[in-house]
Amino acid sequence: MSRVALVTGGSRGIGAAISKELKAKGYTVAATYAGNEEAANAFTAETGIKTYKWNVADYDSSKAGIAQVEADLGPVEVIVANAGITRDAPFHKMTPDQWKEVIDTNLTGVFNTIHPIWPGMRERKFGRIVVISSINGQKGQFAQVNYAATKAGDLGIVKSLAHEGARANITANAICPGYIGTDMVMAVPEKVRESIIAQIPTGRLGEPEEIARAVSFLVADDAGFINGSTISANGAQFFV
Ligand code: CAA
Repeated sequence: MSRVALVTGGSRGIGAAISKELKAKGYTVAATYAGNEEAANAFTAETGIKTYKWNVADYDSSKAGIAQVEADLGPVEVIVANAGITRDAPFHKMTPDQWKEVIDTNLTGVFNTIHPIWPGMRERKFGRIVVISSINGQKGQFAQVNYAATKAGDLGIVKSLAHEGARANITANAICPGYIGTDMVMAVPEKVRESIIAQIPTGRLGEPEEIARAVSFLVADDAGFINGSTISANGAQFFV
């Protein structure tokens, strides 16, 4: 029986590439989306991957959505917590709402995704968790106090879960993508984006598939000793 993988934010951008990669590797994939119904329907039509709509920032919606996935497909054994948003602003202009929205989605959203599934993973003595953090959680970024705080926080979640899950054969790892050619990066003003690309030794944005490749490596059954690690995938832009 193929393992069930849940990919939050799995119908667009990096998440869509992860969903497709895991399906190609034989997983049964459930991809969540927050609001873009049209993109989700097009994604399902193209890939045959089932999509589910809920807001990862809301615990009860996440719990109910996960229960539905498990009723449809079976217990979730692989989690890819990928859903994330930006609300960029220089700190002196950042509003409490911009702070809260990003914290609720990118940080609490990771808690809300993993927490309802965790007891089942402990009982079954198997789990693979990957959290998609960011280069900006490692190095900080102008206009991203909120986003960088969540992405650094995601690394703390992963490292702590690695300690707690290890004896139950549950691994938790993070990937820190650099700048990848997705809608999120394309929303950055062109001039700023050009200056960012100039700082990437590889000389280009990354491809979503280059992140998906790292995910399928980490979630494999035989990756049980890789636990609590952080993989940077940023075209040599930043080393920890
Ligand atoms: N570093 C240094 N200075 C920067 C800067 C940067 N990265 N980006 C903008 N600035 C400067 C501008 O040059 C400008 O300076 P001057 O006032 O001297 O001209 C100033 O900051 C902009 O100030 P404004 O008050 O005009 O800023 P604003 O309120 O219009 O906000 C912005 C503009 C939101 C900061 C916009 O420039 C922006 O989006 N910057 C990009 C931030 C960024 O890199 N986000 C990453 C998104 S991708 C992602 O998050 C995915 C991932 O994980 C990697």
